Amino acid sequence: MKDSATQPQARADARAWIGTMIAPLSDGGVGTPASFVAGEFTLDTVPAEGRLRISAQGLYRAFLNGERVGTDLLTPGWTCYDDRIAFQDHAVGHLLRPGANRLEIWLGDGWWRSQMMWGHERPILNCWGDRIGAIAEIEAAGEVVLRTDDTWRSGLLPIRRSGIYYGESVDARVDPQATHGVEALPFDTGLLVPHEAPAVRELPALAAVDRWEDGGATVHDFGQNVGGFVRFTVEGEAGAQVLVEHSEQLGPNRQWDNANYRSARGAVDYVLKGDGPETYAPMFTFMGYRYAKVTVTGNARVTAIESVPISSVPEQAGTFECGHPLVNRLVLNTVWSQRANFIEVPTDCPQRDERLGWTGDAQVFAGTACWLADSHAILRKYLRDVMADQRPDGGIPHFSPDPTRLHPVPGRGDWAGSTGWGDAIVIIPWQLYLHYGDADVLRECFGAMRKWLDYLWSISDGPVITPNPVWGGKGFTFGDWLQPQAQPGQKDNQKAANTIGDDAAATIYHFISTDLVARIARLLGEEAEAERLAACAGAIKAAFAREFITPAGRIAYGDQTSYALSLLHDLVPEAHREDAARHFRRVVEETDGRIGTGFIGTPALLPALTKCGMHDLAGKVFLNERIPGWLYQVRMGATTIWERWDAIAPDGTLFNPGMNSYNHYAYGAVCQWLFEGVAGLRRSEDGPGFARLELDPVVIPALGHAAARHQSPRGEVAAEWRLDGRRVAYRVTLPEGCEAVFEPRGRGQVTLGGVARTGPLTLGPGTHEIGFTIS
Ligand code: BGC
Repeated sequence: MKDSATQPQARADARAWIGTMIAPLSDGGVGTPASFVAGEFTLDTVPAEGRLRISAQGLYRAFLNGERVGTDLLTPGWTCYDDRIAFQDHAVGHLLRPGANRLEIWLGDGWWRSQMMWGHERPILNCWGDRIGAIAEIEAAGEVVLRTDDTWRSGLLPIRRSGIYYGESVDARVDPQATHGVEALPFDTGLLVPHEAPAVRELPALAAVDRWEDGGATVHDFGQNVGGFVRFTVEGEAGAQVLVEHSEQLGPNRQWDNANYRSARGAVDYVLKGDGPETYAPMFTFMGYRYAKVTVTGNARVTAIESVPISSVPEQAGTFECGHPLVNRLVLNTVWSQRANFIEVPTDCPQRDERLGWTGDAQVFAGTACWLADSHAILRKYLRDVMADQRPDGGIPHFSPDPTRLHPVPGRGDWAGSTGWGDAIVIIPWQLYLHYGDADVLRECFGAMRKWLDYLWSISDGPVITPNPVWGGKGFTFGDWLQPQAQPGQKDNQKAANTIGDDAAATIYHFISTDLVARIARLLGEEAEAERLAACAGAIKAAFAREFITPAGRIAYGDQTSYALSLLHDLVPEAHREDAARHFRRVVEETDGRIGTGFIGTPALLPALTKCGMHDLAGKVFLNERIPGWLYQVRMGATTIWERWDAIAPDGTLFNPGMNSYNHYAYGAVCQWLFEGVAGLRRSEDGPGFARLELDPVVIPALGHAAARHQSPRGEVAAEWRLDGRRVAYRVTLPEGCEAVFEPRGRGQVTLGGVARTGPLTLGPGTHEIGFTIS
C-alpha cells in the first residue's frame, strides 16, 4: 500500500532530525483538554538568523517567547499520516533574545485523532493514533540550540476540547502551567517531509452585512458562505460565556437551521477571563458557514465580530465575467467553493461530519480548479495521498486521506474502486500536465494508474463492467451520483427522466482512463505499454458500441449523461455520430433545457453539446433558471455551489438535511467550459502548460460579451468577445512562449487586425483582434 518509490521528491527533501516526537503527559486523550509542551534554552548573544523546524501528531501552534510563530493555520497539515507528515520551517531570528528563551507548542486533536467520518456510520476516533505530540528543533547560527526531548514539560491549555467537526471549547480563565513532563514516543522521522501544499492562510475578514435578534441570541449574516471561523472580541465578567453556532443556510422566515451539519457540532464556546477586552478565534478547527448565532450567558458583551475565510488557495488566478449577472455570481460561487474546500485537501464540503477528499469530486473539478487558482501543489500533494491509499488490488479509495483504510470494519467492505471516483489517479495528473506542463506528475503516478487499470479490467468481463450494486463490495460504483430522476414540480402525467445504468457509466470510464493512460504512456516513452493500452481502449470502445449503441444511434439508457459522456469522449463510431447527436438534442430538448446529469455527467454536458455544434442548446441549458439548473441556485441567493440541484425548494423549504451541503464544488466544474468553451481558451496536449492554445470561442448571444483572464504558468492569458448583431469582435492576449491557433470552423468573414483572412490563424505573444460572423 505504501509505495515510497512513488514519491521521490518529497522523500529526497526529508532531512535528518535530532529532535524526538514527545507527547505531553498532561494529555487525557481524544476529546479532553488540549495540552502544550514547552522547552527552554539560553543564548549568550542573539544570532542574525534562527530557524524553527517543527511538526506534530495532531495540530500545533507554536509560540516563541510568547509570540506566535508564523501565520500558517492548521499546521502541520493533513496527509495520510502513516505515509507522510509535513513539517514547517520558520524563520524565527527576530523572536530570539539574549538569555532565557522558551518555545511553547500548543497541540490540538485535529485530523489525527478527532472524529473522522459521519456519525451514524461508526465515526472513527484516534484515526492515526491516540497520542498527540510535537517534534521541533531550533537552529541558530548553524547550531541546534533547542530540540524536543524528554526534558520538556507539559500542561493543560485554556482549550478544553477541540475537533475538526466539533469546533472548540475554551475557558480563558485557565492559566497554562507546566505541571507534567513528557514522554518520548517511538516515531519514524523518515515520515517527515516539507509541507507539500501551500499553507492554509486567512483571507481578508468579512464584516456582517446584517444582524438581528433571535430569541436571546444575535444572528450575524456575513453575506458569504465560507470555510473558516469567526473572530470576536468580548468584554465582561470572568465566567460569563459566549457560544458561537454556525449555519450555511437559514430556513423559511430566517429560521435558524444547521441540521445539515449532521453529527458535526461546528460551534465555538468561550468562557471569559474577565480582565478587559478579549479577542478569540479558534485554533484547531474550522466551520462551513455564512451565519453565526451568538448567545451570551452572564454579564458580557460582544464588541466586535468578523468572519475569517481560510484556504490553501487564497489567491485567485482566473476570472470570467460576462453580461449576465447570474453567471458572474455563479463563477464567484465556484471560486468560494474552491477556497472553502481547498483547505489542505480537496474536499467535498467544509461543514458536516464528512469534509473528506472525495476522489470523484476532485477529478471532475480539477480542470476548473487550475483555471481559478494555482492548484498545482495542492493537487500534486493530494495525488500522493491517493497513491498511499491505493489498495493492493489497485482500487483507488472513495476519498483520501482515507480513514477507513486504517480502520476496517467487518461487514463494511472496502471503500475503494468506484469508477468515476478512482479515475482521479489518471485524470488529475492529466489536468496538471495540460495546465502546468508538469510531466513529472505523470511519471510519478504512472505505476498507480496502471494498477488502477488492472483493477478496472479485473472487475470487467473484459471489457464491459457490470458493477456490484452493494456499497463496499468489490466493483461497486457511484455511477452518475445524484443524477436527477424526477423533475421537481413534475406533473403526474409526466414521466421521470431517464438515468444512466451503472454498467454504461462504469464502462465509459473504463474507456476514458484506458485511453488516457495509453496516451500518457506514449508521452513517457513507454511505447509497448502505449500500444497494449491503446488496443485495450479499442476493445472497450468496440464492446461499448456493441452493448450500448443501437444501429440507429440511440445510446444506452437514453439519458443526458449517456449521450454527453460517450459523444464527448469519442465512444460513438463515426457512422452513428450524426444520429447520436440528433438523439442527444432530443433528450435535452425534452427536458426543456433542464439538466439531467449528476456528478460525472454534468461536467461533460455543455462541452459535449458544443462539440456537437449545438451552441444554442448549450446556452439554453446553461442559462436555465429552474431546477435542475446552475442558475436556479444563484437566483435563490446561493453564494457557493450546492451539492444538489434542489437543495432549497422555490418556497424556501430546505431539502432533507441528511445529505444537503451548500458548499460542494462538483457542479462548479462548468467553469472549465466557460474558460475553454465560451472564452475559447482550449489547452492543448501538443503544447501543455500554455505553450499552445486552440482558440475556439462558443458565442452565446444571451451573454452579450464574455471576458476571461488567467495567470498561466507563462504569464497572463486573456480572451474576450463582444457581439454586435451577428458580428463578433474577439480579442486575445497571449504571453511569451505561447502560440495559439484559431480555426475559422464554420465562422464567416474572418479578419485579423481588420484584414480579411482565410484558413487557420497562428498567433504569437501579444494582443490580437479577430473578427468573425456567427450564423
Ligand atoms: C459526498 C460526495 C461524494 C458522494 C459519493 C457524498 O457523501 O459528499 O461529494 O462524491 O458522497 O457517494
